[in-house]
Amino acid sequence: SKPKVWVSRPFFPDIVDRLREHFEVTAETEERAFSPEELAVRLADADAAIVGLADRIDAGVLKGAPKLRFVANLGVGYNNLDLDALTEAGVGASNTPDVLNETVADYGWALMMAAARRVGEAERWLRAGQWKGSRFEGWLGADIHGSTIGILGMGRIGQAIARRAVGFRARVIYHNRSRLDAAIETECGATYVDKAALLAQADHLILVLPFTPANRHTIGAAELKAMKPTATLTNIARGGIVDDEALARALADGEIAAAALDVFEGEPAVHPDLLEQQNVVLSPHIASASRDTRRGMASLAVDNVLAAFGHGPSAGRPPTILNPGVLADAS
Ligand code: GLV
Ligand code: GLV
Repeated sequence: SKPKVWVSRPFFPDIVDRLREHFEVTAETEERAFSPEELAVRLADADAAIVGLADRIDAGVLKGAPKLRFVANLGVGYNNLDLDALTEAGVGASNTPDVLNETVADYGWALMMAAARRVGEAERWLRAGQWKGSRFEGWLGADIHGSTIGILGMGRIGQAIARRAVGFRARVIYHNRSRLDAAIETECGATYVDKAALLAQADHLILVLPFTPANRHTIGAAELKAMKPTATLTNIARGGIVDDEALARALADGEIAAAALDVFEGEPAVHPDLLEQQNVVLSPHIASASRDTRRGMASLAVDNVLAAFGHGPSAGRPPTILNPGVLADAS
């Protein structure tokens, strides 16, 4: 009989269908969060799974999944996977890097510009029927063109954001655990600085670093104080990288001018203090959500599962496997 794959959330039926030749597919028809117990039930006889960022796959869940051999994550960030536990259990895992870089970079700019130019706030005001006349000195925001854009986390998404700065004649500074090769710095037009200089000099700071326990609250009260009072902060990385409560306070106190957040610690819950602030743009973790890119991510997840079970053009070599040693050990 065919191996079983569990697909944890509904997506593009034509892409799910590519699994059916080789797998018995159980696909959820509703988008929802699963408790660890529910995950264990669904994975009890699964050989493979395609999961979303809200599905936490850890040692406890894996205990209830004795047949599981491969987990494909629908996202580039994979802090919802305990990769050590998966590797320990001999389960391969993949993510969806690269296919979303340009789309996420577009969205980072969209949020940064919305914060700087107060797009959300102004729209709420208009919709509330408050536009009775105009004030020449109303709605003043910060320019993007000619500004200094600071990027924290300079992986491929950060680099795509940097490249977009050319047309805005903006200066790009960045900080990252490791400095980029000089050739890439030149190509991206980005200058490496330490974290203190990044905070002090950025007119618009954007966060694109992966979540690890070590960078929880990388931007907290002290870092917000170190920023310019006219600056904006955009988080398209992960919830928890910013201390959302400290950010709400900084926005209320005018320590920075505005913020834009696509990700939240504890999402889908949003810190109530943030909801109180007008000078923050809030969106529900949609940076990669363009029609083409979500299809590309789904397709890549399916390719990884097929390849892990010896099918498709990269049979035996899942294209974006995170722990390739697992498959080497199995063969
Ligand atoms: C989205 O947050 C992703 O990691 O792809
Ligand atoms: C950002 O995506 C990084 O990898 O630093």
